[in-house]
Amino acid sequence: MTAVGIDAVEVWTGKLSLDLAETFAPEQGDDPAKYTKGLGLHESSFPDAHEDIVTMGANAAYRLMERKGLTPDDVGRIDVATESAFDNSKPVSTYIAGCLEQVYDGDFHHANKGERKFACIAGTQSLDDACNWIRAGRHRGRGALVIASDTALYERGDAGEATQGAGAVAMWVTEDPSLVALSVEQGHGSADETDFLKPNQQFPSVDGKRSIQVYLARMREALVDFESVAGEVGPEEYAYAPFHTPYPGMVRKAALLAYRHTIRGTDVEDDLAGDIGRQPRRDEYDDEAAFDDAIRDYMDALKERPEYREWYATHIDPTLAISERVGNWYTGSVHLARLSALHHAAENDRDLAGEEVLVASYGSGAQAEIHAETVGEGWREEIDALSIFDRIESRYDLTFAEYERVHDRHNHAKQAELEAFTTPEDEFIFDGWGGMNERT
Ligand code: HMG
Repeated sequence: MTAVGIDAVEVWTGKLSLDLAETFAPEQGDDPAKYTKGLGLHESSFPDAHEDIVTMGANAAYRLMERKGLTPDDVGRIDVATESAFDNSKPVSTYIAGCLEQVYDGDFHHANKGERKFACIAGTQSLDDACNWIRAGRHRGRGALVIASDTALYERGDAGEATQGAGAVAMWVTEDPSLVALSVEQGHGSADETDFLKPNQQFPSVDGKRSIQVYLARMREALVDFESVAGEVGPEEYAYAPFHTPYPGMVRKAALLAYRHTIRGTDVEDDLAGDIGRQPRRDEYDDEAAFDDAIRDYMDALKERPEYREWYATHIDPTLAISERVGNWYTGSVHLARLSALHHAAENDRDLAGEEVLVASYGSGAQAEIHAETVGEGWREEIDALSIFDRIESRYDLTFAEYERVHDRHNHAKQAELEAFTTPEDEFIFDGWGGMNERT
């Protein structure tokens, strides 16, 4: 079967940043370590006054098209994943196509456009839709633009406020991709949940503590389901495992769960048994609560073991470098985690072509999905072409008072007036509700 997947990626970060330790923590009366160590977050990205999900998505897509030398005629599909949409009828992809048509000769009238929604997992679902469209042979030699764009804001004072973020990831999906080819096999864990939802409201109603448990439960189901179709996953089988990253601390919990699961019945578990025992099996316990306690004790012991720490440092930690600087980008988050891992491999001159990564996506509401990806021959060139860390560095650093005004500006109920902090440069900008998004 022909390989299908991501040929190239571009990223647009919201142009403002909030330092959580220096600026946010003191205003909350919190120890900065709660954010930097507990949640694992240092900064969040925010859109400037002239940015929104359309401009961020269009800017990422334009950058991608320019770098790859694409014209509208090369694009057969524009799929946008977002949970920050402001229009209940017109998909954000039409707005983005409208922006791009201002700068290209030709149009996207031939391109199928849509908008996917399932919280953060919609980015991966859109990618999947695009791959299936190509696999089905409907693409007529064209590729798909898949854009994940979100402004992740919480109500001021909500516990989630520290995990905010904003930005867009644009992916070019083709046959024989340079970056990664997606496996056809995938595993799902999906259930109707109400820990994080936005029924006709901009900011989520969140039960934060429960959302962590739901994430872990669905992720475990997805892993078991993936193994049922792709075979058992060993701890060293994949070079990296990028997870959906609402904040790095969440990934620490998910990674421990995944490690425990993948070492079950392996030599690693046997080798560890002398120090921390074998992991408890459900059928050995009559009482569910006693089993849960035993598992918790095993996990507590496991996470202190050098074997686990080394595995985490090699396979997981490199996926978090972007996320800890930009916060939660919702639909774009897991795609930043993949980029972060590939960037780490490039920095360390690792020859990754042909190796596999295990990608674990998640969206509240709730669904997890796991699939494998094979790194393509052209991955290094694609990663070297990105300048994500320079762009992160060049954001405008907000004071707390400025952050409050930015939050009000992007609050749909307030839409407060705000002068931009940065000067638009060769980018699409938002100039008012119902106005045009124009390139300057
Ligand atoms: P909180 O209750 O304010 O924080 O909010 P906490 O008190 O639980 O502390 C967080 C961690 O910091 C804890 O570590 C503390 O021990 C530690 P943990 O027990 O988790 O390992 N800590 C410290 N560490 C070092 N020094 C200190 C210190 N103080 C505390 N001084 C919460 C945390 C996640 C609940 C909140 O941020 C929240 O509600 N976030 C939004 C929901 C969320 O992100 N959930 C994650 C799973 S759901 C998901 O991923 C989907 C999502 O992306 C949406 C979508 O799909 O669309 C959100």
